[in-house]
Amino acid sequence: MTTTQQPRTQWLGRWGFLLAATGSAVGLGNIWKFPYITGEFGGGAFVLVYLACILAVGVPVMMTEIALGRRGRGSPIDAIRRVVGESGRGSAWSLLGWMAMLCGFLILSFYVVVAGWSFSYLWKMLSGGLAGSSVEEMAAIFGANNASPLNLGFWSTLVTVATMMIVGKGVQAGIEKSVSWMMPGMVVMLLILIGYGVYSGGFGEAVRFLFSFDAGSLSSEGMLAALGHAFFTLSLASGAILTYGSYLPARASIARTTLSVALADTLVALMAGLAIFPVIFANGMSPSSGPGLIFMSLPLAFQAMPLGTLFGILFFVMLSMAALTSSISMVEATVSWLTDNKGLSRRTASWGTGIVLWLVSTLAMLSFNVGADWTLAGKHFFDWLDYLTSRWMMPLGGLGMVLLAGFVLKSETFREELGLSAGWHALWLFMVRYVSPLGILVIFVDALGITRV
Ligand code: PFF
Ligand code: NA
Repeated sequence: MTTTQQPRTQWLGRWGFLLAATGSAVGLGNIWKFPYITGEFGGGAFVLVYLACILAVGVPVMMTEIALGRRGRGSPIDAIRRVVGESGRGSAWSLLGWMAMLCGFLILSFYVVVAGWSFSYLWKMLSGGLAGSSVEEMAAIFGANNASPLNLGFWSTLVTVATMMIVGKGVQAGIEKSVSWMMPGMVVMLLILIGYGVYSGGFGEAVRFLFSFDAGSLSSEGMLAALGHAFFTLSLASGAILTYGSYLPARASIARTTLSVALADTLVALMAGLAIFPVIFANGMSPSSGPGLIFMSLPLAFQAMPLGTLFGILFFVMLSMAALTSSISMVEATVSWLTDNKGLSRRTASWGTGIVLWLVSTLAMLSFNVGADWTLAGKHFFDWLDYLTSRWMMPLGGLGMVLLAGFVLKSETFREELGLSAGWHALWLFMVRYVSPLGILVIFVDALGITRV
């Protein structure tokens, strides 16, 4: 079977891309990671820089990636090579595609562990294993869940298998179908939790924590974390959005879709913050409790709520689904590259990728038990995967994308793909040429400490 002569698959429905891209964006990044890193870096100032990065860097980069994908009709590597070739420039730029593909894969290697936490907590909710009434008890439950590599490995393996099954089914029957009903349910769940938070006593403090932007309280490292998270949460520079864009029908508006995805993603993150921090403050927990934050706090809220078990079950169902609609997007670049270039069927490509992924993710999973001491510079393997992707690969990959779009490619390419009016196009060009690259560089260089020598 040769796929090269056939036109590339496209999303079936009018909403296909929007749902899939929103499904990719909205995930553990919003509900698990955003609250805990916001807690770690002290709240308001972090949130402000994060929001600024979404607007000044995330939105322009997302438009660029979708346009590159649709123009090049291929995996990041192939699409970039084609589009660059069209402008008569060298193929070294396709390294950007390689890095993006690798980045998506590495993210997934630790993401399945966190998704595994979500699935295991769903199971605990169903089987009554979350009966604790204090922060200490919840912390102990979280710790015990991590302590056994067999238990934790079971759940992350389950997520890996589920991801590969969906991806193996294909773009329309697998990815598009699964996202169309999972997304609305999650929003309803978050609204219920916020409603609970409003009455739980910690709401005012939570709002102050998230939105009082006292300038000067954010470290350089915090700024880089905020920038990295803007990429992470929008699924940028990791192949996902670019590859999804390669299935986008020619008539769809890239700018409008981008704005919808970014808005939905931001709203869900802020909603998650407003749902989680009241519980944290009402129970006297520390906001900087790290990656276990939502798993140690939210179950307490469910315990105290009327019908809490039911809501808890619904919540972890939704969180697990949100994780899956993101995880499938992280390997789509690799699977699409393998099917287009190596003559593999989709199924073979998916399972092959899945096996390698399983090996790397198992190492990440072991960071929480037997491999807790396998550290390098104070970080275990799970932390390294997160650190390398969010603080290095995504900012640098994003920088490459905007420089490519702003200075290297022919201007017709984006004029045609984006189809913006002259004024909006000028604004986009100004962003990718100056605002986004300078923003990335300043934050990145500052965090490396070069400005302070
Ligand atoms: N955007 C996802 C989240 O916020 O959970 C994570 C993610 C998905 C990152 C896809 C990268 C990616 F390629
Ligand atoms: Na996100």
